[in-house]
Amino acid sequence: MGNGLILGIESSCDETAAAVVRAGSDVLSNVVATQMQMHALYGGVVPELASREHLRNIVPVVRESLRQAGIEAKDVDAVAVTAGPGLAGALLVGISYAKAYAYALGKPLIAVNHLEGHIHAVLMESSESIHKSSESASQRVSESVGSVVGDAAGNTLALVVSGGHTHLYLASLDEGVWRYRNVGRTVDDAAGEAYDKVAKLLGLGYPGGPWIDRLSAFGNPRAVPFRFVEINRGTVDEPSFDFSFSGIKTAVLRYIETHGMKGAIEDRRAALEKIASPALDDVRALCDAATLDLIASFQAAVVGNLIRQTMAAAQHFGAKRIVVSGGVAANRELRARFEAEAGKRGLTVRFPAADLSTDNAAMIAAAAWSKFAQGEFAGPTLNATPQLRLG
Ligand code: KG4
Ligand code: ZN
Repeated sequence: MGNGLILGIESSCDETAAAVVRAGSDVLSNVVATQMQMHALYGGVVPELASREHLRNIVPVVRESLRQAGIEAKDVDAVAVTAGPGLAGALLVGISYAKAYAYALGKPLIAVNHLEGHIHAVLMESSESIHKSSESASQRVSESVGSVVGDAAGNTLALVVSGGHTHLYLASLDEGVWRYRNVGRTVDDAAGEAYDKVAKLLGLGYPGGPWIDRLSAFGNPRAVPFRFVEINRGTVDEPSFDFSFSGIKTAVLRYIETHGMKGAIEDRRAALEKIASPALDDVRALCDAATLDLIASFQAAVVGNLIRQTMAAAQHFGAKRIVVSGGVAANRELRARFEAEAGKRGLTVRFPAADLSTDNAAMIAAAAWSKFAQGEFAGPTLNATPQLRLG
């Protein structure tokens, strides 16, 4: 079992990441090389460029993760890598490297689902303080996850909400093995994608989520009433708590057109292009009151919808604990309203720390921990699965 040191590697989208995590929650290093600025020039992630950058970054990023952890390659007990979902070419860079690395070290390889990683970005923090190095790995796994699952209250409900995903999972631990059941998902755009598209429509920078988050504080969230259609692909016996975010994007576009906002948007876009790294004050000064109201109303509607569906699912399945993860989990209104709503219902809600909410490899190494203890290893034929599902 060694020291329980897992080297995690993540390259599913636009971050090349490596991390060393001990026993599923003790983060010894967490290195991320982001390509965000390069993709920002194109207004979104360009797959070919992402693969090329991963190739360029993977060796120094892994090396740096070992250096920061203060360990040598031979100390690693297993290599964990994201197998999907994600961009095929991007995933392949991490997988090929992880395979070669594990083979050269003579250590096991562990395949991790990226979504499971996001969920463990929260679970790992909840279990952080309870490890004792003298215990066996499997003991530690069941204890650490035990604290997360809680007083036998049953399931944890996980909302994974990012630029590529908006999924609800029931997560539970069954004899040392995490099991997931998908109980809701977006039928079209992901929530983060809606943020990015609406920001683009309004002439704001990429990625749009952080801009909309900060600008929302200056607008009236009740100015524009957006409505969501109820989507439910499930049945009475097996309900599904689904999302749809393409409608609100179209509604924003229509609002822009019918309220004569196009000229001001073009002016804003042109002005922002001239500023190398605009500050919040720069961007705010370029937004009139009607634009700020539209931004605040869009955010309030999206956050409201995410919370409504999650709470409905929590109630239906009797989940007492909610974890929210993925890039959009950084949103301040989302966190505040989730906490308020959960408090009212006597539920617990947890979010990852900022550096664990966007893509990283510590979450991959953490998710690999129970698989390591169970001996659930990947073979040399491991391949990228761009559409990999969880649950
Ligand atoms: O998890 P992530 O880094 O990458 C994906 O797997 O997609 O999430 C990135 C997404 C982007 O769509 C970005 O606009 C959104 O998360 N995002 C936010 C915030 N920070 C990042 N959305 C809303 N509010 C934020 N503060
Ligand atoms: Zn992600």
